[in-house]
Amino acid sequence: MEKQRVLVTGGHGFLGTHVCNRLRKCPWVREVLTPGSSECDLRKEEDVRRMYAVQKPDSVIHLAAVVGGIGANRAHPGRFFYENLLMGLHAMHQAYSHGVKKFVCIGTICAYPKFTPVPFREDDLWNGYPEETNAPYGIAKKALLVQAQAYRMEYGFNAIYLLPVNLYGPGDNFDPETSHVIPAMIRKFAEAKESGSPTVTLWGDGTPTREFLYVEDAAEGIVLATEKYDAPEPVNLGTGQEISMKDLAALIAREVGYVGEIVWDTSKPNGQPRRCLDVRRAREQFGFRAAMPFEEGIRKTVAWFLEHHTGVLQA
Ligand SMILES: NC(=O)c1ccc[n+]([C@@H]2O[C@H](COP(=O)([O-])OP(=O)(O)OC[C@H]3O[C@@H](n4cnc5c(N)ncnc54)[C@H](OP(=O)(O)O)[C@@H]3O)[C@@H](O)[C@H]2O)c1
Repeated sequence: MEKQRVLVTGGHGFLGTHVCNRLRKCPWVREVLTPGSSECDLRKEEDVRRMYAVQKPDSVIHLAAVVGGIGANRAHPGRFFYENLLMGLHAMHQAYSHGVKKFVCIGTICAYPKFTPVPFREDDLWNGYPEETNAPYGIAKKALLVQAQAYRMEYGFNAIYLLPVNLYGPGDNFDPETSHVIPAMIRKFAEAKESGSPTVTLWGDGTPTREFLYVEDAAEGIVLATEKYDAPEPVNLGTGQEISMKDLAALIAREVGYVGEIVWDTSKPNGQPRRCLDVRRAREQFGFRAAMPFEEGIRKTVAWFLEHHTGVLQA
């Protein structure tokens, strides 16, 4: 592979930071370009056109998105649909127009149908409507898979599409309004421990299962695919292991040192009943295998939170 200028949209975000760190260690990477939203608002086609004209990347990894947990998805279905679709459309179309050699689009597990047989196989992606609470986000992202395949068919554009499962790890978003389930639980248990609260209330009934990928593993998978994978079929990125919300809550409470009671608020939605990926394609096509054991990953994430958010807890 020739030495490349790689542009990462969303390069200052949670996943983006880890992807850029990993890219900087690759011998085939000459420069990592990370224009932020203040320099280039990807919702504006003119900004995107200017960004490619000035930066002249060889490859693009498109990570920029508006994301969040069930609460944020329910509060902003319109914004999540419109902005994610628009950003992806412009980022991919202008990359093609500017002669970018490879475009790596990051999708989401939220694109899968609500009742996908477990483990989720990439071939089942179109066999039903996604879980309602995250469908606008998931479908906006899934439309970008169609764009990638259509541009490959019509223009021979090398766009690939990856589907990471739920991510977690150091640097995650711990804002209670927009965080995903693991940082949300870590924060709740840490605050309850700090204040001596006898109970912690969590959403749903605790039965849904989820799969989680440590963010550094996700970065490794994305960089491997950027280097080695050039086919139209989407590829799952995950561990292939699921855990119930009840077991997850117990694990996080233990790691945080919270000893009170966990109460499940069944008036709140569960989200998708089960999530667990078939991860064979990533292994076969570009040799990706997640490395971080889950308990160790949780321990590192809790440690990162306690180190960086002590002010929040004491406030
Ligand atoms: N987190 C997960 O569990 C997960 C799971 C599966 C897939 N993904 C996907 O992974 C990607 C990264 O997610 P993340 O969790 O790292 O999100 P994040 O931390 O919120 O980062 C999102 C990034 O998007 C950029 N962005 C948002 N609006 C923009 C705009 N209008 N113009 C330009 N840039 C904009 C932000 O840039 P600035 O910082 O410069 O504003 C930010 O760096 C997303 O595509 C997401 O769908 C995430």
